[in-house]
Amino acid sequence: MTKLIIFTDLHMVPEGMTIIGIDPYRRLANGIAHVNRFHADADRVIFAGDLAHYADRASYQRLKDLLSELIPPAAIMIGNHDRREVFLDVFTNAATDEGGFVQQTIDFADCRAVLLDTLFAPPYEYPTSHAGHLCERRLDWLDRQLDGAGERPVLLFMHHPPHASGFAGIDMIRLINEEEFYRLVKRHGNVRHIFAGHVHRTISGSSRGIPFSIFKSPVHQQPMPFDIADASLSVDEPAAYGIAVVTADGVLVHTEDYEIASRDAVVA
Ligand SMILES: [Fe+2]
Repeated sequence: MTKLIIFTDLHMVPEGMTIIGIDPYRRLANGIAHVNRFHADADRVIFAGDLAHYADRASYQRLKDLLSELIPPAAIMIGNHDRREVFLDVFTNAATDEGGFVQQTIDFADCRAVLLDTLFAPPYEYPTSHAGHLCERRLDWLDRQLDGAGERPVLLFMHHPPHASGFAGIDMIRLINEEEFYRLVKRHGNVRHIFAGHVHRTISGSSRGIPFSIFKSPVHQQPMPFDIADASLSVDEPAAYGIAVVTADGVLVHTEDYEIASRDAVVA
């Protein structure tokens, strides 16, 4: 019964700054307090990339300070807004693979969690670098992690969804080598679920027969019309995080809108 909490797209900014009028620090601080109160027993809290909006040291440091308040252990990934070397300069103890990519494998009693680094940089040539990429070295590493999972089903975590989301702007900056990725994953046949961020919207479904879940950000969200070609447009909707629970039969995935959720139930 592994329980994982998933925050994605934190977009931390330097003190005094906001994103479309929202304070990312406050939103995440409320989320961490919520997890500490209701999910202190979580096996991991996974932060699925886009940690800092401008990838600046001050924002990473603010995030690091905030994470020191979290009760369950954290596991940290990066996304297209991050800069790998700046992140690693602040998060000196962050887990990386032998090639220096911010990816790691965590084995639990009933599953193996594989956290991928899909940042398509350096060089940081935006907007190209906002797309996701798994280079040959990272695919090799993934191959070995899937190979070594034994009887454990694998939960894959990646900032960029490896498939279209239905949002025109976001789909232009999705993982660029999804065919290669799925070929590898399907060859192993042990990935039970894929978790992603990047879209800033709650989406679930399946791709090539593998179920997926994408979560909202604690901060700004993707506007709902599907055909908006500009991926930088955002709307102010309540913050959320995801909860994944591995059961004997599969995986349960919940979304917690932690700033508007009410726990004082009354008879309907
Ligand atoms: Fe993001």
